[in-house]
Amino acid sequence: MIVRLIPLDEAGTEALLAVAVAQAEPAEVMPRVEGEEGWTDAAKSAFREFYRAHASAMYVIDVRGETAGMIRLTPTGPGTAETGMWLGRAMRSKGVGVDALRTLLAIAADAGIDAVHAETTPDNTAAIHALARCGAVLTTTPTAVTGELRTAR
Ligand SMILES: CC(C)(COP(=O)(O)OP(=O)(O)OC[C@H]1O[C@@H](n2cnc3c(N)ncnc32)[C@H](O)[C@@H]1OP(=O)(O)O)[C@@H](O)C(=O)NCCC(=O)NCCS
Repeated sequence: MIVRLIPLDEAGTEALLAVAVAQAEPAEVMPRVEGEEGWTDAAKSAFREFYRAHASAMYVIDVRGETAGMIRLTPTGPGTAETGMWLGRAMRSKGVGVDALRTLLAIAADAGIDAVHAETTPDNTAAIHALARCGAVLTTTPTAVTGELRTAR
């Protein structure tokens, strides 16, 4: 698997939007937008706005030159950060998520981050397994699963 993380820019945002529209639900890739469901013009505008506002923490997940999805490293305090990610449907369940998370943890270590927090829902088996594969300590409640990852610092 050849996974590269590329800092998000304008072109990357448009490429991600194209993948999201074709291969993901709005709820998987951004906070909920009021109004009609699906990829309406309002939802696409909200995507661009949200990704521009958070671009400094985001990376395009690139697999052999193809845009696969997004992973983020959002600083939360001294030496700590939070992560989240999504892939287009065609790229899921092929090991890309685990590779992207491992690559992100190496970037985090280089940036002086020791601990990375992640959160998902108990029904998201792929996300939970990807976190476990990367060594996360998992805590499960009826509504949430949190993962605490350590970098190799
Ligand atoms: C969550 C997500 C990023 C995981 O990435 P992925 O590339 O699909 O996952 P991987 O192929 O690296 O697999 C990770 C683990 O999950 C398992 N897995 C993958 N897809 C699965 C599925 N559909 N059902 C059950 N287990 C699955 C794999 O077997 C692997 O576990 P293992 O190492 O114990 O065998 C991806 O599925 C996705 O984008 N989902 C939609 C958006 C989302 O839910 N994002 C996370 C929000 S918190």
